Amino acid sequence: MSNTILVGAQWGDEGKGKIIDVLTEQADIVVRYAGGNNAGHTVFVGQQKYVLHLVPSGILRKNKLCIIGNGVVVDPISLVEEIEMLRQLNIKVDTNFAVSETAHLVLPYHRELDAQREVLKGKNKIGTTKRGIGPAYGDKAARVGLRMIDLINPERFEAKLALRIKENNEVLKALGAKPLSFKKILAEYRAAGDYLKPYVKNTVVLLHQACLRGDNLLFEGAQGTFLDIDHGTYPFVTSSNTTAGGACTGSGVPPHRMDRVVGVMKAYTTRVGEGPLPTENAEISDLLHGMGREFGATTGRPRRCGWFDSVAVRHATMVNGIDGLAVTNLDGLDTVEAIKVCIGYRIGRTRYDYMPADVEVLSQCEPIYAEFEGWCEPTTQARKWKHLPKLARTYLKALSELSAANLAIVSVGPGRDQTIFV
Ligand code: IMP
Ligand code: MG
Repeated sequence: MSNTILVGAQWGDEGKGKIIDVLTEQADIVVRYAGGNNAGHTVFVGQQKYVLHLVPSGILRKNKLCIIGNGVVVDPISLVEEIEMLRQLNIKVDTNFAVSETAHLVLPYHRELDAQREVLKGKNKIGTTKRGIGPAYGDKAARVGLRMIDLINPERFEAKLALRIKENNEVLKALGAKPLSFKKILAEYRAAGDYLKPYVKNTVVLLHQACLRGDNLLFEGAQGTFLDIDHGTYPFVTSSNTTAGGACTGSGVPPHRMDRVVGVMKAYTTRVGEGPLPTENAEISDLLHGMGREFGATTGRPRRCGWFDSVAVRHATMVNGIDGLAVTNLDGLDTVEAIKVCIGYRIGRTRYDYMPADVEVLSQCEPIYAEFEGWCEPTTQARKWKHLPKLARTYLKALSELSAANLAIVSVGPGRDQTIFV
């Protein structure tokens, strides 16, 4: 293998968890580089379903080192719960797991502020996961964040936390919310610090040594390209760089060590939360929800659904440098007779072949569609390219061409074996 970055090419929930799990077979180390427990990566191993929020999905395979990089924001309570959940399911989490000492913490005032700001925004709300992600990254940029290294140093943690709680309680009171108890938080987070201490490492040096040994690294992106704080549909985005560049800054592994970028995309489009989604469509939403598909792994919210948007994915190919596409959920379209694909946008008589950066312009864009004849037969049993119905192959080839990247993987169901290497 080589050092591979895996990113979401749409608005998150592309099925990255499953593809990561499949690719981990050839990796030595799996690294999360952005986001926090707003992510929900679902992996099925046999009949067992695992939903991971912080720990890299690679943990489900034996002898893989899993690292939470410096670019991730870590809610320590949530991380402890996740490790305990994994152990209860007999998944080993000890020497195969490390978290960066410079990863920032998500603390209770971040969650509280996240919720309060959403209320203040009213109908302009972002529809966040309310996990405190935005305020935590905000503190990081404002240079008032606390990090893992602080958490495992009790005196330092107490002193820094006291100051932060004092300031944030003033803000919360001004917003009409209840102030937080310093004592309670200190006790709870100290316990989490004791629990996590053995895993807190200098992951930059660790990854550098791994590169020198020639280990294969797999970078597990979270969320998707259009939730990226720079390249997404701002302000309806998350607060981190979810795109491929984030893998370098969020891990400390330099760009020249990266060999390949895999972009994961659904055979259609979904989004959870507010913000523009040009191909949103009630017909396909109802169909997918009716099949029990497309409910959020973190918040349980029904996802908004639409037809495949090749304008968006072409943009994702450009900003991430995607050289291999993994198409997931092909089977979600198994019963659709006429499948639409967005090949351009239009506002009145003006045509756009790229994604306008301004969300107000993007919101006015109407999709221009091409139509494909559906294959109308199950694809879930296909294990090789040639097993796929001819019309499905035609559809996939068109997606690849329109997205300006080669097809690498097709997924026809949640199982590990429901994977076709193209
Ligand atoms: P936040 O990351 O919780 O601040 O949420 C910001 C936006 O990103 C909202 O629209 C969320 O629904 C969306 N979002 C955050 N994480 C995910 C994810 O893992 N999958 C899909 N959408 C997400
Ligand atoms: Mg998800």
